[in-house]
Amino acid sequence: MLSIALPKGRMGNAVYERFAALGCACPEMQEDSRKLVFENPEAQVRYMLVKPTDVTVYVERGAADIGVVGKDVLLEYDPDVYELLDLKLGACRVAVAARNGWKEDLSLPLRVATKYPNIAREHYRRQNRDIEIIKLNGSIELAPILGLSDVIVDIVETGTTLRENDLGVFETVAPSSARLIANKSSYQFNKARIDGLVKELEAMS
Ligand code: PRP
Repeated sequence: MLSIALPKGRMGNAVYERFAALGCACPEMQEDSRKLVFENPEAQVRYMLVKPTDVTVYVERGAADIGVVGKDVLLEYDPDVYELLDLKLGACRVAVAARNGWKEDLSLPLRVATKYPNIAREHYRRQNRDIEIIKLNGSIELAPILGLSDVIVDIVETGTTLRENDLGVFETVAPSSARLIANKSSYQFNKARIDGLVKELEAMS
């Protein structure tokens, strides 16, 4: 049985469709339920639905053999896993955004609100810029509006959230999209099967 950790939400659904098309369907998953683990014994697969940022934890520790996660999460947590394939789903970018018309004062440390403290720190380390990280867990866009921060480092997909809050992209930090990852020992153990999956998924990307 191959265990697959999928992120709950839109990206997870899109990825599940791809696995289903490869004969790894679990129709129960598309029913509206609170179940978190789904098995298809004939296809020898088990799916688990987890928080997007937790996919790396399940895969790194071997609770799941493989998983799908955004590149943003990989950059932030740097887990000890194999990154096998860019599924080219959920394309977005990590960006610095600020209020429209905002002017940077280089004489002061920059106050950066984000749920990606490591990405933000690394980005500004490369620029040699003094910053103060304000770690938030959601609705990051509120921070510059309320004066809690000067800028945010966050995911921009369609740009709607920024537009609707009178914010704009200041600079792009890194592109992101869904990646297939594998636990290192699970990969060695199931190499033929996982490589086969990668090939088939690659052909669909
Ligand atoms: C993410 C991100 C932005 C938004 C960007 O938030 O943090 O707020 O999506 O998407 P857009 O460019 O298409 O508007 P998410 O929906 O994950 O919720 P969160 O605010 O709780 O992090």
